[in-house]
Amino acid sequence: MTESTLLMIKPDAVQRALIGRIIIRIEEKGLKIIGLRMVKLTESEVDQLYDIHIGKAFYSILKSFILSGPVVAIAIQGNNAVKVVRKLAGITNSPEAEPGTIRGDFGLDLTKNIVHASDEVERARYELNVFFKDTDLVDYELINKNWIK
Ligand code: CMP
Repeated sequence: MTESTLLMIKPDAVQRALIGRIIIRIEEKGLKIIGLRMVKLTESEVDQLYDIHIGKAFYSILKSFILSGPVVAIAIQGNNAVKVVRKLAGITNSPEAEPGTIRGDFGLDLTKNIVHASDEVERARYELNVFFKDTDLVDYELINKNWIK
């Protein structure tokens, strides 16, 4: 089933010049990028994105990290995109993430864990909305689509 999801490249990965190497993994997998935006989030946007974590012990560290520099939001579409992008990202705790995943290959820290990926379809809709208006997302076909699914 075709789904849309959000992958956010976090400030650590932007500073470490990993944007291109992360984007290439999305393209190589056959997923379609339908929106792309670099932004320095405001405090209220971070609260909106991470509303489910407000009040948790790690929240203030997470929030100041996300506010520390620009992030890159990527809207992605494809077959089972939510689950597939989560698999590409790897598990949250980078030191334990499998090699071959984005966090497993590039990360060593729980907070500075390179990317954030939405965990379900409804949540993806909510999180995409933090970065993109509906009209920002581009409706088009990739010429290789018949070779992917
Ligand atoms: P992310 O997938 O963006 O979702 C919430 C983020 O909080 C997580 O990645 C980590 O960057 C950060 N975080 C810090 N400590 C924890 C923790 N103990 N459990 C989950 N997430 C944490």
